Parts: sequence; structure tokens; C-alpha cells
Amino acid sequence: MKQRPLIIAPSILAADFSRLGEEVVAIEKGKADWVHIDVMDGHFVPNISFGTPIMQSLRPKTKMPFDVHLMIAPADPYLSAFAAAGADRITVHAEAGPHLDRSLQAIRALGKKTGVALNPATPVSAIEQVIDRLDLILVMTVNPGFGGQSFIPAMAEKIRQVKALVAGRDIDIEVDGGITKDTAPIAVKAGANVLVAGNAIFKGDHAAEIKALRGACAINA
Ligand code: DX5
Ligand code: ZN
Repeated sequence: MKQRPLIIAPSILAADFSRLGEEVVAIEKGKADWVHIDVMDGHFVPNISFGTPIMQSLRPKTKMPFDVHLMIAPADPYLSAFAAAGADRITVHAEAGPHLDRSLQAIRALGKKTGVALNPATPVSAIEQVIDRLDLILVMTVNPGFGGQSFIPAMAEKIRQVKALVAGRDIDIEVDGGITKDTAPIAVKAGANVLVAGNAIFKGDHAAEIKALRGACAINA
């Protein structure tokens, strides 16, 4: 089975919001692959972040794909607005509503890549029936809502289960929450190939931290 490339997706939730454009340029210069955009509604998760106007204003600043993580419920009424604001990938939570299959069909109908996120307490079986509608599976390694939390070690086993379910299909396995130089290799060894990192990248020298994350995974592979 061919190895999927390692993708680094910095979460702008940890960026300096007063200079968001420059922050995105800095991670692109630092060779990040995707921009991870955490949208929170204060209802599905206990925090509010930002929405489509911020994305729209960032879109001309970078060529990197926008990896949009919707922590909102319901998600369906907003999918076309996120697509129009420049999303390349749209991830919805398996727990966000009763009609996950419909949401995934809607994302593909908008011409965007699909993703489903699984909260720590959500079993992998939640996506079994929609596996062929997926381009990405996001294993939450913290409970969604806030940056700066600690990686939940039990999620390594869930990543292994997701990898087994994927069974060589063309699907990315992403991890999000508490990803650092120490935890990234655990996630990658278990089968993840997309690393979301907020604090680990934005609170230090962005380029150096991106390089360090890649290096830690290569050494521990
Ligand atoms: C959590 C968000 C994450 C978060 C990660 O709800 O989905 O993307 O920003 O932040 P760190 O890497 O700081 O844990
Ligand atoms: Zn996220």
C-alpha cells in the first residue's frame, strides 16, 4: 500500500487575530500544506470562533487549500456559504445531525472534498455506512471547542481502527487537538497522515515549528 504524504495543517484558531493575513502568509512561507479553519457556534461546542467573512478575507492571501472544520449544528444550511467563501474541504461532525449521508452528498455536490470528524466518545462505527462518501476522517484527539488542550492517549487506538476501516481507500486520516512534537509521532505511527496543530505552530517560530513537527514524525517513523 502506498504511503500517503504527511500534511501539516496549522489551525489559525491559535494565530494572532489582529494580524491574521500575515499569519497565514507566514505559515505558507514555512511550508505548511493546508490552512485549518475551526468554525465554532457556541452551541455544538461551548465556544464561538469565526465564520465565512474571515475566510473570505483570507482567501486572496494564500494558495493553500482551506481545510474547514465545522463545529456547528446544524451544518447543512451553511455548507454552500462555506464553499462560496473558499473552502476546499468541508468537515462536519458525525454528531452534528441525524443525516450525515445527506450532508456528505451536499458537500460533494458543491464540488468540495468531504470530511467527517469523530469526537473522542464517538465510535468509528458512526462512519462505516458512509465510508465511500469520504475524502477525510478527522479523529478528534481532544474534545472540540478550545485550542491548547492535551492529546487523549486512548485516541491512538481509534486511529488504528479508522486505518483498518479505510483499508487502502483514497481517504486522509487527520488528527486535531494537542498535536505537538511529542504526540504527532504517536498519531502518525497509528495511521494518521494529516496533522492539525494550533498552539504548537503559532506560539513559536512558525516555520521552525512546522519543520520540527515533520522532523519528529520522520525520526520516529
Ligand atoms: C479544537 C480545534 C483544534 C484546535 C487545536 O476544537 O478543532 O483545531 O485549534 O489546537 P491545539 O493544536 O492548540 O490543540
Ligand atoms: Zn479543528
